[in-house]
Amino acid sequence: MHSTDSQPSVALAQNLLAPELSIIVPTFNEKANVGELVRRLDLVLRDIAWEVIFVDDNSPDRTYEIVKQIAHKDSRVRCIHRVGRRGLSGACIEGIMSSSASTVAVMDADLQHDETILPKMYQAIRDGADLVIGTRYSGEDASSQGLSPIRQWGSNLATDLARKFLHIDVSDPMSGFFMLPRTRVDAVTAKLSEEGFKILLDIIASTPTPLKTVEIPYHFRQRIAGESKLDSLVTAEYLGLLCSKLSGGYLPIRFLMFLIVGATGIAVHLAMLQVALHAFGFAFPTAQLTATLVAIAWNFVLNNQLTYRDRRLKGIKFLFGMATFYVVCSLGTFANVGASSWLFEREPNQIIAGLAGAILGAVFNYAASSTLTWHK
Ligand code: GDD
Ligand code: MN
Repeated sequence: MHSTDSQPSVALAQNLLAPELSIIVPTFNEKANVGELVRRLDLVLRDIAWEVIFVDDNSPDRTYEIVKQIAHKDSRVRCIHRVGRRGLSGACIEGIMSSSASTVAVMDADLQHDETILPKMYQAIRDGADLVIGTRYSGEDASSQGLSPIRQWGSNLATDLARKFLHIDVSDPMSGFFMLPRTRVDAVTAKLSEEGFKILLDIIASTPTPLKTVEIPYHFRQRIAGESKLDSLVTAEYLGLLCSKLSGGYLPIRFLMFLIVGATGIAVHLAMLQVALHAFGFAFPTAQLTATLVAIAWNFVLNNQLTYRDRRLKGIKFLFGMATFYVVCSLGTFANVGASSWLFEREPNQIIAGLAGAILGAVFNYAASSTLTWHK
């Protein structure tokens, strides 16, 4: 046999080259952007064996089909098509877990992140960095024009809080554009939260030893095609992640959000009670009942907007969900009153009994409503 026959063609040889860099790109309704992103990656990553892994949450615009069409002709492109799941962090984690390259990067599909800094980022990893962040803030080039003023404010607040409470000292811990050795993520995968979108912050906060970090500033571009999936509520969700990390990861973000919403519900209850007593002139039992019904509706709406924004109920499901939430909260109140009275008989301490009842009620309401009202 001639040696030329057994020699793989150049194209095949390239195919056999295992990627050293996997770029993870979460997508939701980005069909107009994915082709252009692949084209640009191809232009800037000339000397690196790379692959791009799109993780699509069953986008209604069928982004996954476009990605698979591209992947059909280009083996550097892969698609993870997830059905029945939704969430930025979870998508990134899954993409990273599917990679066997030694270096992984995460970037958005919408071309807001500047792909031309990728080679610089990769060089920094080769030079020994544990983490390289594309940052929108530091440096002369940095700009955050791509964010609305309220998002910008929330983003700054979140960065300050991360500094204070988690001692995270990077200028943009909310960045969705970063690169690191895959083993760095593997070491903490089990600790990461699938909920929310703060994957970078989560990785930093979950790593026990400080990561040798390099920040590379870039210009955050305006989005041209498609629309942003993150709104101002992301800040609220982010506060939840902070609290969850502060509790050592024991309290899930959702439960904390549920408690915060519950606390606002108490304020609404007390205000409503005053209105019912004094403005409407109701007798106390009627006023208390009115205040309770209003507070439950308030909690339902807020939890639907915030705590369960990823499973938000709309239309007829909203009404049905509200009804189940009333049932859940009534049962929770029984559990609360029953348990605290039982405890009070044995240990006549109002605070302990009251608190124990309230905690039991909150846990019950949370557990029951997550399966009954906002089930997956
Ligand atoms: N798979 C998946 N599932 N992808 C998602 C989801 C989801 O539920 N939600 C959003 N994405 C994808 C989008 O398609 C896009 O590629 C990327 O995640 C970022 O979403 P955008 O909706 O464009 O976010 P943004 O531009 O408003 O937010 C930017 O700032 C955040 C910090 O404030 C991004 O850079 C984020 O990465 C960053 O965390
Ligand atoms: Mn974007």
